[in-house]
Amino acid sequence: MARIRHNIEDMTGIFISFEGIDGAGKSSHIQALAQAFRSRASSSRNIVLTREPGGTALSEKLRELILHEPMDALTEALLVFAARREHIVQVIAPALARGDVVLCDRFTDASFAYQGAGRSFDLEMLSKLELAAQDLCRLPSEITSKISMKDGILQPDLTLLFEVPPQVAAERLAQARQPDKFESQDVAFFERVVSGYAARVAADPQRFVRINGHQSLENVRSDVMATVRSLGLI
Ligand code: TYD
Repeated sequence: MARIRHNIEDMTGIFISFEGIDGAGKSSHIQALAQAFRSRASSSRNIVLTREPGGTALSEKLRELILHEPMDALTEALLVFAARREHIVQVIAPALARGDVVLCDRFTDASFAYQGAGRSFDLEMLSKLELAAQDLCRLPSEITSKISMKDGILQPDLTLLFEVPPQVAAERLAQARQPDKFESQDVAFFERVVSGYAARVAADPQRFVRINGHQSLENVRSDVMATVRSLGLI
């Protein structure tokens, strides 16, 4: 978390992502957090609220395909990273270079959790796609010089991981709208996704704050707010 404090002090962009299995309840909290940032942010930073797959016109079209069309696992991984590349190049990198706060509903952790652990797709291949999708050498140096990447990879400064038992998430989803391709997966799939997220946390524990999503909406919200407050973001 030291890194995000540094960003706050020197006014470089702040990149926050939100993750969790479907039904973990993150989406409503992202909206509330964006609202809180806009009204009470401790600086005059612009707030960019965005999502993956999506965030640009083309990436939103790819989202439709990824979420609703049956396809081969490699095709799915390629589309997810194609959507991410557009999003990084068009939206995320320019926003971070301006010093904005980017609130992103899912990022690369979701690919390792869903395509990697959920679909049992080759993690090394995902790492190669990640590296290829994040090659920013064609972007102007005014942008790339202001973005901090590690070994050619852009990661969020902070990731809030919403956690609920897969069985609870499944019960929540059963009461919600018509499920998409991922939401209609069985509990075993989501158990693998949970283990995929756990591996990501273990590999980079400093970046993650785990939020208990299996409590009242009010309590989850207050945990989210307490986290961003404790980091000096609000
Ligand atoms: P989600 O973020 O849950 O949006 P909503 O709340 O509107 O349904 O939906 C995105 C889905 O896409 C989710 O099931 C996870 C999946 N996904 C991947 O499989 N890989 C990825 O890299 C990303 C970003 C998402």
